Amino acid sequence: RLQAISDAIRVIPHFPKPGIMFQDITTLLLNHKVFKDTVDIFVDRYKDMGISVVAGIEARGFMFGPSIALAIGAKFVPLRKRGKLPGKVVCEAYELEYGKDCLEMHVGAVEKGEKAVVVDDLVATGGTLRAAIKLLECMGAEVVECACVIGLPELKGQNRLNGTPLYVLVEPTILENCC
Ligand code: PRP
Ligand code: MG
Repeated sequence: RLQAISDAIRVIPHFPKPGIMFQDITTLLLNHKVFKDTVDIFVDRYKDMGISVVAGIEARGFMFGPSIALAIGAKFVPLRKRGKLPGKVVCEAYELEYGKDCLEMHVGAVEKGEKAVVVDDLVATGGTLRAAIKLLECMGAEVVECACVIGLPELKGQNRLNGTPLYVLVEPTILENCC
């Protein structure tokens, strides 16, 4: 199953800029069996862990998070980029290659003591997941694990998560994706 997931991810060289090997999960979404297998792997892992919150990171975390939340009987909490959520928010800055952005969560979306899993398509440096964890923890939730379809081990994203476990399905090496 993992090989089929890996095979379904299209690599587009030099997008959005030269030197970046873009991991395009939209091709995975086109394949019903592979898409379902991807969601099912996460569902099997999280269904009996007492998780009541699946937090998805805009934009590509929204493509997997809600399906997982529905299947495990949890709520879905969108973590959005700056200025998109209409209600009162908590905000956490994170580093981008150039400058900073902000991830926001609605106040009241989670309650103290809830167990959460954070979902995104890909972890690279881990900066985005780190901001997501901080948002949830500052509202008193416990982040049990971060779950991503793709991890880029060379970038050591796990090291930025302050000990929160990271679960990834496929780990393309930069070499494999080169050229
Ligand atoms: C990408 C990806 C992750 C993040 C990973 O999102 O979907 O969310 O970068 O990078 P990091 O581990 O170095 O923080 P991006 O912000 O490019 O945009 P999108 O998901 O809205 O398309
Ligand atoms: Mg993203």
